[in-house]
Amino acid sequence: MKDNPSIAFVGPGKVGCALAAIMQEKGLNIIGAATRPESVGEKKPGQEVFPYLTSDPVRLAQNADIIFITTPDDRIASIAEKLKKEKALKPEAILVHTSGHHPASILGDKNVLAMHPLLSMARWDLARENIKSAWFFLDGDQAGLEKGKDLAEVLGLNWTIIESGKKAFYHAAAVLFSNYLVALVNAGLELQQKAGISKSTGLKAALPLIESTLNNLHELGPVEALTGPVARGDKGTVEGHLKAMKEEKGLCSLYRELGLYTLEIARKKGLSPEAYRQMLKTLEEGITRG
Ligand SMILES: NC(=O)c1ccc[n+]([C@@H]2O[C@H](COP(=O)([O-])OP(=O)(O)OC[C@H]3O[C@@H](n4cnc5c(N)ncnc54)[C@H](OP(=O)(O)O)[C@@H]3O)[C@@H](O)[C@H]2O)c1
Repeated sequence: MKDNPSIAFVGPGKVGCALAAIMQEKGLNIIGAATRPESVGEKKPGQEVFPYLTSDPVRLAQNADIIFITTPDDRIASIAEKLKKEKALKPEAILVHTSGHHPASILGDKNVLAMHPLLSMARWDLARENIKSAWFFLDGDQAGLEKGKDLAEVLGLNWTIIESGKKAFYHAAAVLFSNYLVALVNAGLELQQKAGISKSTGLKAALPLIESTLNNLHELGPVEALTGPVARGDKGTVEGHLKAMKEEKGLCSLYRELGLYTLEIARKKGLSPEAYRQMLKTLEEGITRG
């Protein structure tokens, strides 16, 4: 970067530790992290990247040019407010958060940046490796965006800009891509258990299937990647599934709702109008019958 800014973090959790680690790898100047008073004691794994931990974000921020607030979403605005109220910020300091839902403007109207990694970070060490390939979605005022682009370039990250007023759509999409994928796998494992397959064997066996689907998506896109009974118009197979799941109300309605959405993709892939109509009837009747 042009200058060598001092970078501080408030909230040294998974995202904070992973970001600080890749910044340190590139020689950026991480000065410390502020956390909750009850968490200041011994550093947790991942927090070694911070020269020190403090419970005083105000003192920390006074020495920083860039302050990342990587706490849970609901605390971001009040921490930013406190830093401003207590005059902790240098005149040109940039405040940053990493939430995918909130716009940068929850930090203030000047020198603000939101820098959301479109990634699932379940543990800091996995996050540190995965974050390098993540796409970062940026919004902010001009000074914030300039800093965000600079940081992303220095760190070798993929980045793009998102309209701040539309982040709810973007973040809901992220929930589908990641959180609901995990939920779907869990639901699949529950069904496999009904076939006498343990959850651990089921997961091991499901992963190559999931990975092959991801490869198909990568190579072919979301229409051509679709396979399976809905895409083929195999009505009898879908009826068999619905019959078997009759007693599993939640799983059954999940299967049907997703089936209806899948059917629209199948139509785009070339399912005949007659096969489409019959499959629609099977899935819809299932839904009305409960
Ligand atoms: N995890 C993801 O997959 C992911 C992906 C993209 C973006 N994000 C965003 O990144 C941000 C951080 O998420 P995360 O998953 O890293 O959360 P996290 O692992 O729970 O870390 C949050 C950190 O903030 C600390 N903290 C909580 N309240 C605080 C306060 N009042 N003052 C100072 N520190 C405080 C926590 O300390 P304690 O441990 O003591 O509570 C913890 O170290 C969120 O805005 C989230 O939406 C997360």
